[in-house]
Amino acid sequence: MPWKYFNQVCYTRVVMTLETSIGKVKLRRPGMVASGIMDETGPSMVRMIASGAGAVVTKSIGLEPKAGHPNPCFTEIKSGFVNAMGLPNPGIELFKEEMEIAIKAGPIIGSIYGANAEEFAKLAGKMEDYGAVAVELNLSCPHAKGYGMELGTDPVIVKTIVSAVKNAVSIPVWSKLTPNTQSIANIGVAVQDAGGDAVVAINTLKAMVISPEMRRPVLSNKFGGLSGPAVRAVGVRAVYDLYAVLDIPIIGVGGIYDAHDALQYIMAGASGFQIGSAIAKNGPNVFETINKNLERFMIDYDYRSINDMVGVANE
Ligand SMILES: Cc1cc2nc3c(=O)[nH]c(=O)nc-3n(C[C@H](O)[C@H](O)[C@H](O)COP(=O)(O)O)c2cc1C
Repeated sequence: MPWKYFNQVCYTRVVMTLETSIGKVKLRRPGMVASGIMDETGPSMVRMIASGAGAVVTKSIGLEPKAGHPNPCFTEIKSGFVNAMGLPNPGIELFKEEMEIAIKAGPIIGSIYGANAEEFAKLAGKMEDYGAVAVELNLSCPHAKGYGMELGTDPVIVKTIVSAVKNAVSIPVWSKLTPNTQSIANIGVAVQDAGGDAVVAINTLKAMVISPEMRRPVLSNKFGGLSGPAVRAVGVRAVYDLYAVLDIPIIGVGGIYDAHDALQYIMAGASGFQIGSAIAKNGPNVFETINKNLERFMIDYDYRSINDMVGVANE
């Protein structure tokens, strides 16, 4: 082993760190499980933390149990997935038992969806009681009528929801934004003006797959949300735009499959990142590989912390 390499490894053992802070939320590793994949039960969330995730964002939970859309609600395409799950979840009361198991393993962020500010505030209070370290407001799901993106594209509604939740809880409030809008930066500013603690970008892009044999859309809901490698460049651009106008932290999500993908988001301005489709495609080990390769990159390019790399592509 050349001396330089040996020296760097020793040096980085002492100084280099994958730790990051999203405002008051401190993470040992910057990668989190994105809402909707391997985060519906306590044991699956425990498994994801054990696999190297710095935190898990839960499946989005509402006030009442919801069955979601009928099958088919998920399809794979060449460059990712299109899903229209329709927010299936057991409802906030039953989700308590999953949270009791999950919070013992590591930091859990409670993702919630509601039809109005009052519902969001109620759900956020429950997640705080259950031990979530932060709540993530789903203002961005593209395929659930009356929820998500239908609220999250209007800066006035966004401001009202974020303010109500801020008044209801003392844990940090993150807002997950949709790319299906003319200006994601304007929505980010509305979140910040309302006292939001961080933004998460992006949720899925509204999309459709048609079966030529069947002569109709594949999904029962007809349209759904596109995720995976196809959306990565859209997500990176969204984070870059948000970084230019916001002072609050940004979390990047969309098409992250390896350390290079994660680094694009970090250098665009993200203090942390989330992974969804890559877990569905390649399994939970994605975190361990990304953590190892992030460290390798930081050694090779002489970065000592994630924070040293945040937003450097904007300089
Ligand atoms: C099957 C599936 C279910 C999802 N469910 C949710 C959800 O409940 N709430 C939410 O905010 N985002 C949900 N998402 C969006 C992801 O959290 C993420 O924002 C998006 O998939 C882009 O990241 P990716 O390319 O790493 O998957 C879901 C995505 C998929 C593929």
